[in-house]
Amino acid sequence: MARHLITSAIPYINGIKHLGNLVGSQLPADLFARYQRARGNEVLFLCATDEHGTPAELAAAKAGQDVADYCAEMHLVQAQIAEGFRLSFDHFGRSSSPENHKLTQHFAARLYEAGLIGEVVEKQMYSPTDGRFLPDRYIEGTCPNCGYDSARGDQCDNCTKQLDPVDLINPHSTISGATDLEMRETKHLYLLQSKMKDQLEEWIDTREGWPVLTTSIAKKWLNDGDGLQDRGITRDLDWGIPVKRGDEDWPGMEGKVFYVWFDAPIEYIACAQEWVNANKGDNWERWWRTDKGADDVTYTQFMGKDNVPFHTLSFPATILGSGEPWKLVDYIKSFNYLNYDGGQFSTSRGRGVFMDQALEILPADYWRWWLLSHVPETSDSEFTWESFQSGVNKDLADVLGNFVSRVTKFCRSKFGLNVPEGGEMGAREQALIDELTTRIRAYEANMEAMEVRKSAHELRAIWSAGNEYLQEAAPWATFKEDEARAAMQIRLALNLIRLYAVLSAPFIPDAAARLFSAMNTLDTGWPDDVATALGALPAGHHFDVPDNLFSKITDEQREEWQTRFAGTRD
Ligand code: MF3
Ligand code: ZN
Repeated sequence: MARHLITSAIPYINGIKHLGNLVGSQLPADLFARYQRARGNEVLFLCATDEHGTPAELAAAKAGQDVADYCAEMHLVQAQIAEGFRLSFDHFGRSSSPENHKLTQHFAARLYEAGLIGEVVEKQMYSPTDGRFLPDRYIEGTCPNCGYDSARGDQCDNCTKQLDPVDLINPHSTISGATDLEMRETKHLYLLQSKMKDQLEEWIDTREGWPVLTTSIAKKWLNDGDGLQDRGITRDLDWGIPVKRGDEDWPGMEGKVFYVWFDAPIEYIACAQEWVNANKGDNWERWWRTDKGADDVTYTQFMGKDNVPFHTLSFPATILGSGEPWKLVDYIKSFNYLNYDGGQFSTSRGRGVFMDQALEILPADYWRWWLLSHVPETSDSEFTWESFQSGVNKDLADVLGNFVSRVTKFCRSKFGLNVPEGGEMGAREQALIDELTTRIRAYEANMEAMEVRKSAHELRAIWSAGNEYLQEAAPWATFKEDEARAAMQIRLALNLIRLYAVLSAPFIPDAAARLFSAMNTLDTGWPDDVATALGALPAGHHFDVPDNLFSKITDEQREEWQTRFAGTRD
């Protein structure tokens, strides 16, 4: 039995994520986790909310809430939505957990002892009125380039020019509106990644089978310009993990916190500790410490392409730099972007479908199927309502749903609600078994390789093979001449329904569960041998006709949704 540690990039706490976020990490990670469990492997699948940093502070302030309360509330909201999408995390943690505080401070101490942390004094905007240093995004003013009056300290949203807060004309604090801003000196810690360039490069060069998208991004950061840059890992903020070396105060760093991108990936480890502390597991070290059994774990991370530098360089720098035997990632699966109907998803403008809204209009399986079969794997892809409608109606309703309905209803009318006995299988059945065997082996290979689209494609072909068989065998016609033969054909088709439930469960778990329950079986065994698998439901086995598995999306619905999600959410 293989052991798989699987993590999805942890979503920011501020706000509900859109479908583009979902398809870029959590959903394909869930597919892989479900598949590995179905194959009998041991899986630890972790995700969490990414709770620190300026965006969390800003969102809490906007909601008029204390930031800790805001995060606690939003964590529950996100956890509930994740459940709605059937994301099968073994634990959904929080980067603000006590476990992560302790572990982050521990890593900082180790890196310090290894001489990998430097202290740098720099100048930053300070607001005496607010009593704090202002991160770039807390400063607004007039753009020196285009005159736009709400340009942010880091960028002008109007002309997109990258800015420095000192460039702004009439800068003010977005917290209080104060204009008496001044430059003040402040000390920060830097992770000296440049010292680790060779070690990181060697590590990346020895990774086998990493996708080009992943390695090319890592290489670019390693070798661009002056090479790998040292990175600031502290901030002048209130909300975050206090800067300490283990339990000890860090002289000169009082009142400062670690940068969110320093503590967030450490939460992957802390999350396993949270899982144990929540009594869901009893040993996190055998997943994370190579000296405690994690050397035989395969660790796979899922993320969008914008996250790749942090996972190929910064987080490995933290881990390698600690000099401790932590498990490093084996495989990074990264994704491009999903666009929305001719443009981009936009959280600020409410453009596109957000996770909560999606579940309000249709069950999770509909979204899971379309998103996974159109995942932006080799290039960006686009959500359009036409494509969504056609994917749901054709693949789910016409192919899978229709097969189940025809077979179960025909059986009920001619043989009743028990699997009929029938005669021996013939050449047509053997041909079907051969085709299914080839396709199922291909499906397995694609799933192992995390080739999500190819897997979806193969699964669809497996569903189609059943329909084609039914069309050719035509038990409704056979029945008139040779009742026993029709019975055999239907027995096979009923068994195919169970087989489809097993194979489809990673993609559409709810529909699969309904099929298992209609087929009245707990046998979720993987079809290592197709002929055997097609005998799982014996003659005489009782079953039920399930309610309609999938409803078609009407043109009217499609048009209504297209208008509703064009961009008005406040
Ligand atoms: N919150 C980040 C994002 O949504 C992802 C953080 S992943 C981790 O882009 F590695 F930091 F955990
Ligand atoms: Zn501008």
